[in-house]
Amino acid sequence: MNILDRLKAGIITSNPEESQSVAQELAATLPPEAVLTLEGDLGAGKTTFVKGLAQAWSIQEPVTSPTFNIYNLYNGDRQLAHMDAYRLENSPEIWDELMLEELIFPPFCLAIEWPSKLPFIPWPITHKCYFSNEGENRKIQIK
Ligand SMILES: Nc1ncnc2c1ncn2[C@@H]1O[C@H](COP(=O)(O)OP(=O)(O)OP(=O)(O)O)[C@@H](O)[C@H]1O
Ligand SMILES: [Mg+2]
Repeated sequence: MNILDRLKAGIITSNPEESQSVAQELAATLPPEAVLTLEGDLGAGKTTFVKGLAQAWSIQEPVTSPTFNIYNLYNGDRQLAHMDAYRLENSPEIWDELMLEELIFPPFCLAIEWPSKLPFIPWPITHKCYFSNEGENRKIQIK
């Protein structure tokens, strides 16, 4: 099965490295303007997954959780914008303030943790990714 079919069925990973290699496989399939929403509980592996995307695009800078600055921008073979919307108010001015459209150019991937905190997303969503804890393991699923 290809990576998209496997992700639609749901993939269980038993360590962060496995989760990152799933992200790398998905990265190879993404269109030049890609938006991934990452939903799931605290610690379910969303940021870990973004680290795998960064590896796929040879981003050397370490990926850290952007909780205090809303998003981090990384440059590699593709631009990666990693947003954590957890603390955002649900206000429509957000996108104007972020000015992301002036900062990211194709090929890019915008990966958004806690997308439910945003009033809207100004690009089509490529994949909605769901993360969950399965005992010691983690599950990643695309719906
Ligand atoms: N199979 C796995 N996949 C991903 N992370 C795992 C896995 N097994 C254990 N972990 C651990 O679980 C934690 C996942 O944390 P991570 O920051 O990726 O979660 P998150 O969903 O981004 O959380 P938050 O909502 O707080 O931002 C890490 O400490 C990681 O090492
Ligand atoms: Mg996170």
